[in-house]
Amino acid sequence: MTLVPALAGPLTLPVVGSPLFICSGPELVGAQCRAGIIGAFPALNARPAALLSDWIQQIDEENASFAAADPDAYVGPFAVNQIVHRSNDRLEQDMAVIVEHQVPIVITSLGARTEINDAVHSYGGIVLHDVIDDEFARKAIDKGADGVIAVAAGAGGHAGTQSPFALVREIRSWFDGPLLLSGAISHGSSILAAQAAGADLAYVGSAFLATHEANAAPDYKQMIVDSTAKDIVYSNLFTGVHGNYLRGSIEAAGMDPDDLGVSDPSAMDFSSQAVDGPKAWRDIWGAGQGIGAIEERVSVAALVQSLRAQYDQARKDLCG
Ligand SMILES: Cc1cc2nc3c(=O)[nH]c(=O)nc-3n(C[C@H](O)[C@H](O)[C@H](O)COP(=O)(O)O)c2cc1C
Repeated sequence: MTLVPALAGPLTLPVVGSPLFICSGPELVGAQCRAGIIGAFPALNARPAALLSDWIQQIDEENASFAAADPDAYVGPFAVNQIVHRSNDRLEQDMAVIVEHQVPIVITSLGARTEINDAVHSYGGIVLHDVIDDEFARKAIDKGADGVIAVAAGAGGHAGTQSPFALVREIRSWFDGPLLLSGAISHGSSILAAQAAGADLAYVGSAFLATHEANAAPDYKQMIVDSTAKDIVYSNLFTGVHGNYLRGSIEAAGMDPDDLGVSDPSAMDFSSQAVDGPKAWRDIWGAGQGIGAIEERVSVAALVQSLRAQYDQARKDLCG
């Protein structure tokens, strides 16, 4: 299928740098766009809420001056992520800012809503909704999302349990629109594999956590570099929803990663009041199983360049 213009680009790589709670801000997202991929950040990262408009303006302005200085360079578009959960008390306010700035791509998580899709469509934007199974994918498209992000097993942060092969095949059996694949994609060959499996774009999160531009503590970045898949723990204790976290950060918080309790999903809280409360994300660090491929802390430009080289090599190895 032909991708909608917002996603088609002449992208350096078929990649969206996925939204990362706390860790993605204008510096990371701007660098992703200027490296020629699609950047994304959660609206909730801009705190207080009034900062959201400034962040969007900053990314737009920095990208425009980069493009003016180098007219041949391709600058990717960016996306804002909305957590569509009843506890997100900023949702409407943030939607108004998104509409005002005509943000080209909106990524919705934890709830698909027709009125949000309609608001984004009113100015020609597109909505991608993240899902962990085929049933949720069908609901998202029924409610008017333009595309889906299949969040497979091994993804950083809130993650599903299904194999990427199973998930993409089930969705592709009825949907030929934009399909992104997420989960443990940290190497160029995995980006090519996502396309071979049937996805249009790879949705890459953890690999960007160790970049200079990510808003993550130095120890967090180093733990990403030093850890591998065996260091990832899947638990719902910290937010009420199952997700993948770094074993070392759980230990550092004084807990036993092999003996974590379970949580009640109703404990999930994205309200403004919850900002200073939960330790998830701030102290308990999210990461996906693909981090074994991350061997150093580099700039976004260097990471994208090496992913591109790996992608090209994998294509050459396959096709000769
Ligand atoms: C630290 C961290 C924070 C995340 N925060 C969000 C978020 O705020 N909103 C969201 O939709 N997804 C969030 N995710 C999920 C990612 O957008 C994406 O699905 C995931 O990182 C992809 O898997 P990978 O990390 O293995 O590449 C987060 C992931 C991580 C690792």
